Formats: sequence, C-alpha cells, structure tokens
Amino acid sequence: MGGGLAGPELVASMSQSGCFGVLGTGGLPPEVVGQLIKETKQLTFKPFGANIILPMSDGRDIASCFDEGVEVLILFWGDPQPFIKDAHKRGVFLVIQCGNVEEAVYATSCGADAIIIQGTEAGGHVKGELELQSYITETRRELRKTPLIAAGGIDSGEKIATLIKQEVQAVSLGTRFVASAEARAATRYKEKIVSSSAEDTVLTNLYDVGWKNAKHRVIKTPLYESWHQNGCLEEGDRTDEGETIGQIELGSNRTMSVPKYSVFPPISSFTGNEDELPFYAGKSVDGIHKIEGTGTIVETLVAETKSHFDEI
Ligand SMILES: Cc1cc2nc3c(=O)[nH]c(=O)nc-3n(C[C@H](O)[C@H](O)[C@H](O)COP(=O)(O)O)c2cc1C
Repeated sequence: MGGGLAGPELVASMSQSGCFGVLGTGGLPPEVVGQLIKETKQLTFKPFGANIILPMSDGRDIASCFDEGVEVLILFWGDPQPFIKDAHKRGVFLVIQCGNVEEAVYATSCGADAIIIQGTEAGGHVKGELELQSYITETRRELRKTPLIAAGGIDSGEKIATLIKQEVQAVSLGTRFVASAEARAATRYKEKIVSSSAEDTVLTNLYDVGWKNAKHRVIKTPLYESWHQNGCLEEGDRTDEGETIGQIELGSNRTMSVPKYSVFPPISSFTGNEDELPFYAGKSVDGIHKIEGTGTIVETLVAETKSHFDEI
C-alpha cells in the first residue's frame, strides 16, 4: 500500500505473523525507499517485499530495492519485461499485479515468478476490469504452474478458503490491514474503513495528481460528493486545483507538500485537512468491524479459513 501507508511496523508484524509483508514504497523518493527497507530489517529477520508502481517510478526506487537486498519485488501497472532479467540476476523473486488474464499471461511469458490477479472490488488503484471471481478459473488454467495470488474484496476466511479450493496459492489483502494498529494510516482513515460498507465505496478517477488515468476505489467523502454533483469535471475545470492542502513527513528528513486531488492517502504523518485526501478502500470494508493488531487479524482469518476446510 503506497505512499508509505504500509511502513516497517506493519510489514514486520505481517511477516512475523506468518504472512508476507510488503512495503508500500510506490511514489516515494529512492532514499526514503532505502531507509524504509533498512528500518524493516531492524524489526524482523523474516522475508518481506517492496511494491513499486511503475507509472510513478523513474527506476531509482527499484534500484534502491535491489541495493538494499529486497527478496521480493511486486510491480504494478506497467510492462514488467525491462526489470525481470535484472531482478533474476540478483536473485529477486518478481511478482506482478495484473488486471486481466491477457496481462497475467504476458507477465508470465516475460518470466514473472508469481501473478496477483486483481478484481474490481479492490481498494486503491484498480487495474482489474471485472470482479475477482470472473478471473480465477481462466487465469489458473492459462498460468499453468505459475503461482497465482488473488486480490480484491477479500474480507473473510470463507472467501480465502473458496479461493484456495480453486487452486489459488495465496491472497493479497490491502484494506483489512489499513485498519490495523500498525498501519501508518491516520486514525480517522482507519475509523472510516471500520464504519463504511461496500456501498460507501466508489471507483473514480478524481484523485489523479501524481498518477493520471488510473481508476481507484475510495470511500465517498464530501469532496467526492460535491465533485460528482457538479458533473465530475475534468482536470483543469475542478475547484481549487493546484492548492496545497497539507504536508506529509516522508522520513529521511523529507517533507512533501500535498496538492488538492493528490494520489497520497491520509497517512499518520499528514498535517492538514484529511477529508480532502483519498480514503482508498475496497469492498472488503464489509468484513471489517474493528481496528485490531495485525496478529489478531491474521489469527482470526486463519481460524476462519481452517474452519471452512474442516467442514469438508
Ligand atoms: C490503501 C491502499 C493502497 C494501495 N496501494 C497500492 C500500491 O501502492 N501498489 C499496489 O500494487 N497496490 C496497491 N493497492 C492495491 C492492493 O495491492 C490490492 O489489490 C487491494 O488492496 C486488494 O483489495 P482489498 O483492498 O479489498 O483487500 C492498495 C490498496 C489499498 C487499499
């Protein structure tokens, strides 16, 4: 989860809990990426990954991941081909998040080690064009032996068990862990996830400063509602464009001004009006009723998943 939302505390606690934590390094300067990897290594000896959003990358963030010895790199939204050879030369396992079967097949033909297939229920930026279940059977068949990971709207052990029974090797959850004690999300953001239902979320292109032409699922806010009521005006016609709405502390002594309609989510180090920022969330909000520690969330999901196997 980009913009630093999934920081060292969340990633280390995920990996310590038996999951696989992934640093949300998308959109961050390369020195901040390097620092986050170092900090995570101080918190856990378990393996973890880093995520790069290709349209927000000039390649230096990927170089930082390689330099700091990240073992798994997860790439999103772009052609993975230029990075695969270099990653493999360094022994890095490459996972590509894809939005349809063709993209998944292409990434595999380039040498991807695993594929995440994302459905439109997902929170954050959504490459998926259909709901998750529409993809599973065909992607599983087309990928043959390449490990398949499912993402989008997964909010219960029952859904995880169903996916495993469909020969999916793993699941990727985002929104559930934004509402965890360890996520670097503003408290108000976590509370909004807990109090929202899937109908409160919407796929939009409103928050596009920093990353254009990429739809994203967010919780509706007064800013979204007024933009929608005014006819979903295009860039150039929206109110207060270019206005600075706050500041984010990125770490490594870096502070960033945040403009209105920015892609950056309300992380805990943001000062300003949080309601102006994107509250990224998937339809998985339906299964989230509490802010809890990562360990508790994982224990609950694992127990629920197991109970659906015990039923057979
Ligand atoms: C707050 C938030 C930020 C996200 N940021 C990224 C990101 O930086 N890179 C990425 O590949 N996916 C990102 N995603 C999408 C996730 O990888 C995943 O597809 C999604 O969270 C799955 O749906 P769920 O949120 O319903 O669990 C983000 C999701 C959320 C909720």
